[in-house]
Amino acid sequence: MSTLLSLVLSLTLASSVYSDTNGAASQSSENRVFASHGSNVTLPCRIHREYGVNFGRLGMKIKWTKMSMDESVEEDVLESMGGLHENSYGSFQGRVHLLEEDDDDASLILTDVSQDDVGKFICEVIDGFDDNIHVVILEVQGVVFPYSPRLGRYNLNFHDAEQACLGQDATVASFDQLYEAWRGGLDWCNAGWLSDGTVQYPITNPRGPCGGANSVAGLRNYGQRDKSSSRFDVFCFSGALRGEFYWLVQPNRLTFAEAVLACQDDGAEIAKVGQMYAAWKLNGYDRCDSGWLADGSVRYPISRPRKNCSPTEAAVRLVGFPDKKQKLYGVYCFKGQQ
Ligand SMILES: *[C@@H]1O[C@H](CO)[C@@H](O)[C@H](O)[C@H]1NC(C)=O
Repeated sequence: MSTLLSLVLSLTLASSVYSDTNGAASQSSENRVFASHGSNVTLPCRIHREYGVNFGRLGMKIKWTKMSMDESVEEDVLESMGGLHENSYGSFQGRVHLLEEDDDDASLILTDVSQDDVGKFICEVIDGFDDNIHVVILEVQGVVFPYSPRLGRYNLNFHDAEQACLGQDATVASFDQLYEAWRGGLDWCNAGWLSDGTVQYPITNPRGPCGGANSVAGLRNYGQRDKSSSRFDVFCFSGALRGEFYWLVQPNRLTFAEAVLACQDDGAEIAKVGQMYAAWKLNGYDRCDSGWLADGSVRYPISRPRKNCSPTEAAVRLVGFPDKKQKLYGVYCFKGQQ
């Protein structure tokens, strides 16, 4: 096969793979890989030698590129020519190499995974005989949660929303993250900012006040809103915990100020909302005790629903933002990794 023909073939393959993956959960040539923040991950890719000809890597080009989830941005990741030269590009420089377990292995190792790495990685193998395209979707483990502050519902402009999430050890969720959370069952009837400046909310059980009982399940989208004057809640995203989240065992009910001090006395800090969500969702943390958190709210995380403790669903329960002088609650603390 001529180089030109194989290029045309690979482009055709590429476009069919892209259109197939639009919105589809998965398909044969598509894998999903979940990684936690800061870890190393292997993105699998096998070379298929349809004609049974194996010249090793002689004359073979392996190219990894990355598309954002919505396919609007494409970046080069790595190129290898004949197994001799390996070049990495942009933010991937020095963080990627080929695994090369055997002659048919084109898998990519990516180190120090961060939220920015989320996307569709495309492995393209080009040689004189065969062209393969594989798509591997990389997701970074985390949890999306709706947030509104003590002031109450619909009080945050976009800039306040960014600060509100940062204050919970989280970031404003992206559309992709909210979409994945909705697929995972998130249903929330208050609209919140996303990182792209749109305002949306996820509905899995259509009902009257949330876009109509006869509407389909999905993300309700208010579109782009004015970042200064529009006020909504926010969806925050928290990645894997880098530290220990725990209930402070101590004999007394505490005021908010006493709770802050009690965690400090334990060599920790009063925990943030994003840390409670991460511990609950990613580590299965479960505790039926109401405790103060850093934003002045009182919550408890239930992953095993039971009588008197969120009986119908696994959830982080909000008790409220009580008077900070009330001596009614315990405290959750967080000890960061050094
Ligand atoms: C990831 O790989 C790098 C380079 O091989 C290594 O130095 C680092 O310790 C690894 N990190 C983890 C979390 O395994």
